[in-house]
Amino acid sequence: MNILVTGGAGFIGSHVVRRLVTQYPDYTIINLDKLTYAGNLENLKDVDNNSNYHFEKGCITDEKFVSDLFEKYKIDKVVHLAAESHVDRSITDPLIFVKTNLIGTANLLNCARQAWEGNYKDKLFYHISTDEVYGSLEMGTEMFTEETSYDPRSPYSASKAGSDHLVRSFWHTYHMPTLISNCSNNYGPNHFPEKLIPLFINNIVNKKPLPVYGKGENVRDWLHVKDHARAIDIILHKGVPGETYNIGGHNEWTNIELIKLMCDTVDQKLGRNIGESQKLITFVQDRAGHDLRYAIDASKIERELGWIPEYTFEQGLAETVDWYLENKEWLENVTSGEYQEYYQKMYK
Ligand code: NAD
Ligand code: DAU
Repeated sequence: MNILVTGGAGFIGSHVVRRLVTQYPDYTIINLDKLTYAGNLENLKDVDNNSNYHFEKGCITDEKFVSDLFEKYKIDKVVHLAAESHVDRSITDPLIFVKTNLIGTANLLNCARQAWEGNYKDKLFYHISTDEVYGSLEMGTEMFTEETSYDPRSPYSASKAGSDHLVRSFWHTYHMPTLISNCSNNYGPNHFPEKLIPLFINNIVNKKPLPVYGKGENVRDWLHVKDHARAIDIILHKGVPGETYNIGGHNEWTNIELIKLMCDTVDQKLGRNIGESQKLITFVQDRAGHDLRYAIDASKIERELGWIPEYTFEQGLAETVDWYLENKEWLENVTSGEYQEYYQKMYK
């Protein structure tokens, strides 16, 4: 089986690529990634010599490049993660989100349609999406289910909602086998340090201010990235075409409580006085249109495919803090312009 993984050099994509390359030596895994600021091949250096792994640098919006890849590798299945993924960036530069997330997804779908020529036996287009397409919940116990109506509220979530709609349209119109999963907030190793957890761990370690948006009362449902990668593996193999699966951790935290936990975890690991790093908390202007609460009802994937998270949050967060403490070089590399330029040139 030849599987095209898009966005495999990013945070979640690299965990998915590693899992597929190592668990399924008979598969050929092709990682297509543009290596934007968020994509780093260092995330995959432990598997990049495997004979069943191939890297292709390119853009998912490039029609010729993508259709040539389908031809070159005789792609059977697509696991599509490539995206612009950071909500704050979508507020300052919405157009790149429309280009990558909407047009890029449309191009991949269309190239798959043309390559497969209506013969969809053993073919699959699987889109990795987000819980943010469902909008925002009030405080309380309500959760997003697969039946919740779409109500995206940031340019990022609107572009992901649009790409979900495109995927479904190919299922209904062309009968192309498709799958969608909508996941909650991921955390873990290799997370680019612009998102809350890696940014704040880095700032706490370096005694820099912790910019909490608004009052820190927003709620997110956190899931370890390896639990997400395992869910993707299960859906890829057992998901029913045309279906959607929600993935979440049943692990809701207000930002402020999570930030205090991160402060205390780092203090404890670095031998600082517990409470010391909480002094770094700085309340700043709220994110525009900041969604109040996300919470995923993940009962369908548990009931139908037998997936539940394996990490407890205490274990996952402690391991994540350890990983960032042990991988300072990775942190410096992924944030350094020179390093980015090196890989850009190497795969020109
Ligand atoms: P990321 O920003 O870490 O990685 C995105 C990857 O896509 C990078 O490697 C980047 O180089 C690549 N990419 C971007 N534009 C490209 C283009 N035009 N052509 C080819 N490659 C391109 O993102 P992530 O956090 O790993 O998220 C991966 C996917 O999962 C996204 O689709 C995102 O919407 C979805 N998702 C993320 C989360 C989360 O918490 N991070 C939760 C649910 C769903
Ligand atoms: O829910 C899934 C989504 O989770 C994914 O689809 C997105 O790709 C991913 O980036 C993430 O989106 P969020 O906006 O929830 O994640 P972020 O880490 O940016 O922010 C988490 C919360 O922390 C959010 O309420 C905003 C807040 N925050 C974030 C940053 C970066 C702060 O208070 N200060 C900050 O500096």
